[in-house]
Amino acid sequence: MWSYKMWSQKSRQASLRLLPSLFLILSTTGLEYVEAGDHPLICPQPRFTGKAPPNIYNLKNPLENTPKNLKKGKLLFQVKAKPMPCKNCHGMMGEGNGPMASGFNPPPRNFTCAKTINGVTDGQLFWITKNGSPGTGMLSYKGLKDEKIWQIVLFIRELAK
Ligand code: HEC
Repeated sequence: MWSYKMWSQKSRQASLRLLPSLFLILSTTGLEYVEAGDHPLICPQPRFTGKAPPNIYNLKNPLENTPKNLKKGKLLFQVKAKPMPCKNCHGMMGEGNGPMASGFNPPPRNFTCAKTINGVTDGQLFWITKNGSPGTGMLSYKGLKDEKIWQIVLFIRELAK
């Protein structure tokens, strides 16, 4: 006769056998997060992002580059922006290698790459931050007031080397 004890031992053995295949499924679907800095920084980065409408594209940042505005932009980028801070994908200093970065194709923009980012206008950075980049991991930040987005744009402009 089968006892409960025998049955539970059998099923435990069966689940142990399943563990390696479960791990394989998780790692091939890329569901696991890779630590920040785990993949190489790409520079120059291929860029296929949609263009802002002309009246926005040509805008210059209306805010002055003061220490106060920069500090606020940095704080939003690294900590405060909702639904989540930019650094989750773009990295603390915009290197494009945040803890969630490896989940996205195309990858998050590397703001430290002058070759890629210097040709991108203030208005374009503003537009994509506000509206996201459809079909990619870049979310929209419609909940952020324009002034806050411009503060973030000031900060991003400081990152390219
Ligand atoms: C969940 C991941 C994620 C978060 C969070 C995120 N981004 Fe992005 N971001 C991306 C990806 C992916 C791209 C690349 C999109 C593309 O190639 O079109 C991108 C691209 C961009 C671009 C490039 C625009 C261009 O025209 O080249 C800007 C600007 C940007 N993000 C700003 C921000 C800002 C500012 C925040 C925070 C307020 C933020 N992102 C948060 C994933 C993210």
